[in-house]
Amino acid sequence: MSQYDVIVIGAGPGGYVCAIRCAQLGLKTAVVEGRETLGGTCLNVGCIPSKALLHSTHLLHEAEHNFAHMGLKGKAPSVDWDQMKAYKDEVIGQNTGGIEFLFKKNKIDWIKGWASIPAAGKVQVGDDLHEAKNIVIASGSVPASIPGVEIDEKIVVSSTGALELPKIPKKLAVIGAGVIGLELGSVYARLGSEVTVVEYMDAVCPGMDKDVQRSFKRILEKQGLNIILGAAVQGVETSKTKAKVRYQPKKGGGEETLDADVVLVATGRKPYAEGLGLDALGIKMTERGQIATDNHWSTNIKGIYAIGDVIEGPMLAHKAEDEGMAVAEVIAGKHGHVNYGVIPGVVYTTPEVATVGATEDELKAEGKKIKVGKFMFMGNARAKAVHQAEGGFVKIIADKETDRILGAAIIGPAAGDLIHELCVAMEFGASAEDVALTCHAHPTYSEAVREAALACGDGPIHS
Ligand code: NAI
Repeated sequence: MSQYDVIVIGAGPGGYVCAIRCAQLGLKTAVVEGRETLGGTCLNVGCIPSKALLHSTHLLHEAEHNFAHMGLKGKAPSVDWDQMKAYKDEVIGQNTGGIEFLFKKNKIDWIKGWASIPAAGKVQVGDDLHEAKNIVIASGSVPASIPGVEIDEKIVVSSTGALELPKIPKKLAVIGAGVIGLELGSVYARLGSEVTVVEYMDAVCPGMDKDVQRSFKRILEKQGLNIILGAAVQGVETSKTKAKVRYQPKKGGGEETLDADVVLVATGRKPYAEGLGLDALGIKMTERGQIATDNHWSTNIKGIYAIGDVIEGPMLAHKAEDEGMAVAEVIAGKHGHVNYGVIPGVVYTTPEVATVGATEDELKAEGKKIKVGKFMFMGNARAKAVHQAEGGFVKIIADKETDRILGAAIIGPAAGDLIHELCVAMEFGASAEDVALTCHAHPTYSEAVREAALACGDGPIHS
């Protein structure tokens, strides 16, 4: 029997980051992971592989649509789908291998297999029982389907199956215009699939800033995606090679159907804690099947913590990472902290979409007095030079009296990176004027952030 200060269950972004911080803080640490490689959903079948496909198909789109205009003549490249998937696998391998290297460097044991917790302080993996003063559950989440839709990962696929399709479908139906549906829908639209997204709500990316939703939809439609809003998918019928999606428009009328070669189910994810034995342990769960935790990520059982997708909050890799670091600090007797008010959200389409903090609608509903500074990327020289000015903007929402930044939304080039200037500003309690008074290099996309900050005051220069 081996003894540890901490055993982390799951090596996704929450678990592996937690383990590294524990080791850095001098705790003897092991991670239990049953997958062949470290990194969890994010590195193996989520964030990283999708970004590889988004990058390669973005370049294809550029070659097909923008090269000639920039004086780059010649035939656009053809797609070798198997090679594109091999490139994606190479990127996965580099990243998962990187985590393995970090584990060795930090002297973290990787216990290979699937864990259960027979009692507080004990972790069973296969025939081996390990002891740990502290256990951190970071077991993540799995795709959730909807009634009437069964995922077979062949014709009806989750995001996992969508990364491994044997061939590019002629017609792809996507259920859900959330992050996964729009990122992977974009990939296949760029590869030539006829993509139709069916969304229950009346906007893409429900919950996001309304201006962004409108602009985002228009841009995606211009890129060739068909988007049907206000339509509830009722079920999917499949034959050997085809599928029929049945949906009910909310405005009324009869049920409608959509034919497809492949259906991507992107209707959310659910927490995953199967096989851990949480019931027998008496671990408290929330109504939504998440592990209930207190402000220090502790479950109701002393010495057992939980972080990431398996607890409440946005199912985002970076939220899990922050919790992983914070809980390690708590276990080491320090002060772990996560500012849940400043967790950015990014959609990695082209253009990218990024948000942080509260939306204009949320603040108005709270009765808060706000001002909104908005700057279109059409006024940004750099964005124009890369064909990404159209429809994009930076929007900053600040307190009307104090000028403190309360939220921001960006749609445009490198939005996923630009948003962090505003995250840092919010962490420091900065005002829009603080950002507006900061010198920004020219010509950069970041100037649009400054202009939006100026728009909260006396006005932007370039609009
Ligand atoms: P999501 O929650 O973002 O979107 C699901 C969508 O499906 C919603 O818009 C919902 O209204 C719609 N829907 C549900 N039932 C429906 C029905 N019967 N008919 C039509 N539409 C229906 O979930 P998604 O995109 O599957 O992503 C899962 C999780 O993974 C999310 O928490 C997301 O944040 C995370 N993720 C984050 C990424 C990123 O940060 N770039 C990338 C991929 C996933």
